[in-house]
Amino acid sequence: MQKLIVANWKMNGSLEKINLDIGQYTDNPHVNSSYVILALPYVYLLQAQFMLRNRYKIANESEKYNYFVHKDHGFKVAAQDISCYLGYGAYTGEISGNMLKDIGVSYAIIGHSERRSLFNEADAMLLNKLENALASNIIPIFCIGENFTLRKDQRYRLFILQQLELLCKVEVGFNALVIAYEPIWSIGTGVIPSEAEISEIVQLIRTFMQNKLPRVKITLLYGGSVTASNIQSILLLDGIDGVLVGGASLDVDKFKQICLYAVECAKN
Ligand code: PGA
Repeated sequence: MQKLIVANWKMNGSLEKINLDIGQYTDNPHVNSSYVILALPYVYLLQAQFMLRNRYKIANESEKYNYFVHKDHGFKVAAQDISCYLGYGAYTGEISGNMLKDIGVSYAIIGHSERRSLFNEADAMLLNKLENALASNIIPIFCIGENFTLRKDQRYRLFILQQLELLCKVEVGFNALVIAYEPIWSIGTGVIPSEAEISEIVQLIRTFMQNKLPRVKITLLYGGSVTASNIQSILLLDGIDGVLVGGASLDVDKFKQICLYAVECAKN
């Protein structure tokens, strides 16, 4: 099965880089035959959308809750966040799901550990963000993962289950969701969990979702220090549908290599 690659640029990039990189990706056969989602800073989303529309001749992004629409073209864009407020209103500085949808963006990262820790995003706010996304037909890329202390103290399983519980509180019905397991101790550190450690969590998440939300289609990603050198073994793990790549997605050549591996892996 084809794997999904989400590239999280975080607070990086420039208009020039967007133009150069997307120009290269849309001409690259491996990127074109992968499912890639570029999560860009808000200010660059519209430009990226224009480029993709021209390249892929997307008439109108009307798809709902189904990333397999990807089959039509190589890649899409995502927001790195979304407002916890729905619609429009007096919320200075916020970007709502309606606005993202207005420019054809269909995905938003929600609950990335950097937002949880640096911006104090706790469950109540994340629940609103999930509901805002779903009410606006935006597919959430929901990030979860434990820190090093929880891992060391063997409390990580319970912690991950608690993070997943939030999904059961979402009132708007949803039928597709991307979940990214990103252990905080692996993000940006170059330290990768062992295959057994990743597989343990994959199974934990899959079992939880199967029991609690059996009708929701889950695309399960691993994130944290993914590079062109370790992606192959990660993608081959049972139950893994793709990866979320931070740092390594900023380098065009490395990212093209990552896409090449994803395409090769899908052939196996
Ligand atoms: P990294 O970041 O690949 O640089 O570790 C992953 C992420 O934070 O999403």
